[in-house]
Amino acid sequence: MEQTTQNVISIPRIGDKAPSFTAVTTQGEINFPGDYKGNWVILFSHPADFTPVCTSEFMTFAKMEKQFNEANCKLVGLSVDGLYSHIAWLRTIKEKIEYKGMKNVEVNFPLIEDITMNVAKTYGMIQPNEDSTKAVRAVFFIDPKGIIRTIIYYPLSLGRNFDELYRVLIALQTADEFNIATPADWRPGDDVIVPPAGSCGTAKDRMDGKEDMKCYDWFFCTRPISKDNVMKRVLKKK
Ligand code: BEZ
Repeated sequence: MEQTTQNVISIPRIGDKAPSFTAVTTQGEINFPGDYKGNWVILFSHPADFTPVCTSEFMTFAKMEKQFNEANCKLVGLSVDGLYSHIAWLRTIKEKIEYKGMKNVEVNFPLIEDITMNVAKTYGMIQPNEDSTKAVRAVFFIDPKGIIRTIIYYPLSLGRNFDELYRVLIALQTADEFNIATPADWRPGDDVIVPPAGSCGTAKDRMDGKEDMKCYDWFFCTRPISKDNVMKRVLKKK
């Protein structure tokens, strides 16, 4: 919720409960984040319908939706356009746009209409020095308990990297499942970080009796987690 106290605007931050709202979307009304309890959800904004960067992003996200769903994650888009604009834009994408081998792309996840900008403002998606009438490209990762776990912002001119968004989702889920942290550029199968004393418990506490930890110094310990193990425990795949 946006709160203005002595000109200080409060916007949601990592660790906060995701502000709740109801909204009209291309898939009917939603009650956010209540309808998504038990699922991860990525709430993301785009500046405007019928614009090229946003079109390339929607096609990419739609193509990857199944992959996100298989990681127990739902997608929800938002812009400050109205419902009929959203519907017309998504129909045009399906009927006319062919891009990077993608065509006939149907967007099946909900796209919120936010002509009042209430939701966009509440979530800090309107960043007036970038544009006061359009949302920036914000991405909120919200966990199954409705807690904001990661926020990424991109400016209007920069299309997002959707492989990175998927990597972030899997890294967050892996950190939760194994009680570890993930190092720079981590991907499933890479060694993970056993948090040192003073961060999230001692490395020793985190070992759960495992003998495969490698410590380079007291503050930097790693251990392997196989890609198979991530697939099995995080993605629930054999
Ligand atoms: C685009 O998606 O292409 C776009 C939208 C707003 C400003 C600039 C680019």
